[in-house]
Order: sequence, then structure tokens, then C-alpha cells
Amino acid sequence: MSNPALILTIAAIEPTSGRSQSMLWPAGPASAQIAWLWWLMFIVYTAIFAAVTILLLVAIFRSRSDRPPLGPTAFIFAGGIALPVVVSFAFLLTSLKATLAIITPQGLDPADVLTIRITGHRWWWEVEYPDLGIVTANEVQIPAGRPVRLELTSADVIHSFWAPRLHGKMDLIPGRTNTLWLQASERGLYRGQCAEYCGLQHAHMAFFVVALDREEFDAWAQKKRVPPTQGEPLEPLAARGREVFMAVGCKECHAIRGTQAIGNTGPDLTHIGSRRSLGAGTLPNTRGGMAAWVADPQAFKPGNLMPRTELAPEELQAVVAYLRSLE
Ligand code: CUA
Repeated sequence: MSNPALILTIAAIEPTSGRSQSMLWPAGPASAQIAWLWWLMFIVYTAIFAAVTILLLVAIFRSRSDRPPLGPTAFIFAGGIALPVVVSFAFLLTSLKATLAIITPQGLDPADVLTIRITGHRWWWEVEYPDLGIVTANEVQIPAGRPVRLELTSADVIHSFWAPRLHGKMDLIPGRTNTLWLQASERGLYRGQCAEYCGLQHAHMAFFVVALDREEFDAWAQKKRVPPTQGEPLEPLAARGREVFMAVGCKECHAIRGTQAIGNTGPDLTHIGSRRSLGAGTLPNTRGGMAAWVADPQAFKPGNLMPRTELAPEELQAVVAYLRSLE
């Protein structure tokens, strides 16, 4: 793990921007509203705290003979009732204004809305583009500069979708669909995280939002609509890997479009070779990462549903070559 890029993939630092996964570095209109509200509250409450501290010091050090500028009743009314009411009400209004601004974007042409369905699983994210016929996992590709509609639900327990630089948290609840409008101002890679404790591997339930230019996004969608190896013969090692994959039981849980693998317990692997991480941000998607994961997923993410597969070294190498060819 000497390559810093690999370390960054699995740490809470975004590999491209080098910025921490923080809502204080907003990269979209919704997160900008949230950050603005946060700073406003921080400044106002810091000022109030400073004022209270000063009054406390004055009370401690003033001499008994000094007359206070306000009588006790007036002081309690002004500082204990009027001020909190005004400040709380002002923040209620500014919070409501920010909430309304981030709930639904204005002036959208419904025909131009991209919908992405995200289902939380213990412990990974299923990502589906119903209008494009694409299914992937743990990575949400979006066009930058335009709001996309996320429909969030869960297959098991409550999870929470949180890409701090783009938006606030939204729960994924079994049997219910919540909507979140996600928008990135610029192209970039934004890391996100499950923000609701959902069991043993809650901390290993990360994802990436990949914001692309419009043309890049269209090219991506075009490419991912078709199975990667359609029409082309596989290299011998990858072809051997496909045989092993279909023979040892991988296909019972995973789907690879265009093959006999149609399992839906684990992530869709149709384009696994081009994803950034494995195990929802647990390992970098390199040759070594893939081999380590396939050989013993329980070593990296104990309790996840993928069992150890007993493979001979030659078989493991072949499966890794096959999966890496699925770009
Ligand atoms: Cu899913 Cu925490």
C-alpha cells in the first residue's frame, strides 16, 4: 500500500480534490445552503457565547457597590426571554428557507430528469438507472451541473445516504422510497458514506459520486448499456476465469449481463472492472485488491454475505483476469 492513490481510495479523503469528505467544502447547491446555515449558526452562537462569558466575568469581578445598567426583571426579560425567542425564530425561518431550497429544484423540465434508484443492502449500495438499463454498485455516476433525482430505498435495515460535499443525509427505509435531488456543480469525485448504523460493517459502506461533463456522462451511459465483452472473444486466461466463475457458484449471487450469471444477492458485476473500489470502499479495485477480496472477503469485511471460495491459485488468477476484463 505504498501508492498514495490507493490509500486515498479507501480513506475519507477524496482522491481527486484531496479534500476531506466534509460538508464545509460544499460542491453543490444543496450543500452550499447547508454550509451557509452552519456558518451562520456558528457565528451567531459564538457571539452569544462570548457575550455570556463577558457578562459572567463582569458579574464575578464587579464590585458590590456598582449599579447594574438593567434591573433584574428587565435583564431576565431581555436576555432570558426576548433574545432566545428572536434568535430561535430567526433560525427557524432560515432553516425552513434552506430546507425548501434543497428539497425540490425549481424550473425543471420533467422530460429532462434523470432518475437513479439506490437500494441499501448490508453493506453495499445497488445503483440502478431505470431509463438507461444500467445496474451498478457503490458508484453513482451523474452529469455535473444538473439535478438528478435519487429514489432511495432499502432491502434490509435502515441505511442513510450521505455525500457530505453534495447534500445532507437521507434515510433508506425498507418498504418506502425517499427522494433526494443531487447536484454537483463541477465534475469530480465525491466520496459518500452510510450515515445510519446498520450493523457490523456499517463503517465499510462507502460509495463514490462521480460527476461527469454532459458528454462524458452520455459516453459513459452508452458504454455501460451493453455488456463489456459482447461480440469480442475473451483472452484465454479471462475465458478460463469465466468458466471457473460459472462453475464454482459465483453466479448464484452475482449478475453479469449477457451471461448465465443472474444472481441478485450481491452486487451486479457487469462492469466491475471499471469500478474504483471493492466491498463498498473497502479495498482498491486493483489486481491485488481483487485477488485478495475474491480469495477471502471475510478477512476484510467480516460478516458480509460473500463466503470464502476455495480456489486453486491458477483458478483465482483466471477469475481475477475475467473480472478485470469486465470494464
Ligand atoms: Cu448502511 Cu450504515
